[in-house]
Amino acid sequence: MTVMDMFNLKGKVAYVTGAAQGIGESLATALAEAGADVAIVDINQEVAEATASKISEATGVKTAAYSFDVTVPENATKLVEQVVADFGGLHIAFHNAGMAHNVAAEDMSIEEWQRMIDLNLNSVFYGTQAAGRHMLDNGGGSIVNTGSMSASIVNVPQPQIHYNAAKAGVVHLSKSFGVEWADRGVRVNTISPGYIGTELLQSEELAPLRKEWEALTPQRRVGSPDELKGIAVYLASEASSYATASDFIVDGGYTAA
Ligand SMILES: NC(=O)c1ccc[n+]([C@@H]2O[C@H](COP(=O)([O-])OP(=O)(O)OC[C@H]3O[C@@H](n4cnc5c(N)ncnc54)[C@H](O)[C@@H]3O)[C@@H](O)[C@H]2O)c1
Repeated sequence: MTVMDMFNLKGKVAYVTGAAQGIGESLATALAEAGADVAIVDINQEVAEATASKISEATGVKTAAYSFDVTVPENATKLVEQVVADFGGLHIAFHNAGMAHNVAAEDMSIEEWQRMIDLNLNSVFYGTQAAGRHMLDNGGGSIVNTGSMSASIVNVPQPQIHYNAAKAGVVHLSKSFGVEWADRGVRVNTISPGYIGTELLQSEELAPLRKEWEALTPQRRVGSPDELKGIAVYLASEASSYATASDFIVDGGYTAA
């Protein structure tokens, strides 16, 4: 098999959550460009539909948009069943929906703590378990969860204890799933980005913080969502067949500095 064959995703079916915009949109576009049919999953149905149309027009693969709130446990199984019914299988699952929010640890309400743990951590457990159950019974697959460099370091200067804890959980739960399923054909890995210039980071309010983040990053800039496309296709494809239960940090050098 040539290296280009190893990266080819033709004949594979994938879903990506939080794929309407930002990092998720780039991950979904990458899978489609490598030949996979892709389900675009997001709580924002309107933008998800526009993204699905844009990707299929650009790449010629089959896409469809699905409106699911990933924090509802039952939705994980419903999503897998829907994708399998509409696309004829499921080989690749990316759990990427998530968000950060700044609150000082001493001011954090229990409700806010639980909301962020539900979105950033619990949803990844529901999704990985549901996709994994299908893959274990149907010839295997690759699951890729979006972690963060916040799993390995504590960001400064903004306070985000719930996000940091959730992302550390995502990385370790993905390793745990990966080890449990390692000899049964289902691989589970995480992509842990550093600061990535999604819409979230473009706001005027965050401009001073962004300058600080760039100064702390050895490459002296934030990354672009498209700079995660390579690792996404690597982890989804046969090119990474011996990689499981691992965390892939893509952060311009931040965590090493
Ligand atoms: N941007 C960064 O610097 C950065 C760095 C490290 C990790 N991450 C992680 O990458 C992932 C994507 O971040 P982004 O910057 O692209 O954010 P984004 O806000 O641009 O996109 C997140 C997407 O998730 C969707 N979403 C939110 N809640 C949802 C829910 N309950 N159910 C379904 N969909 C939901 C949103 O509608 C949106 O389309 C997140 O897990 C984030 O924590 C981002």
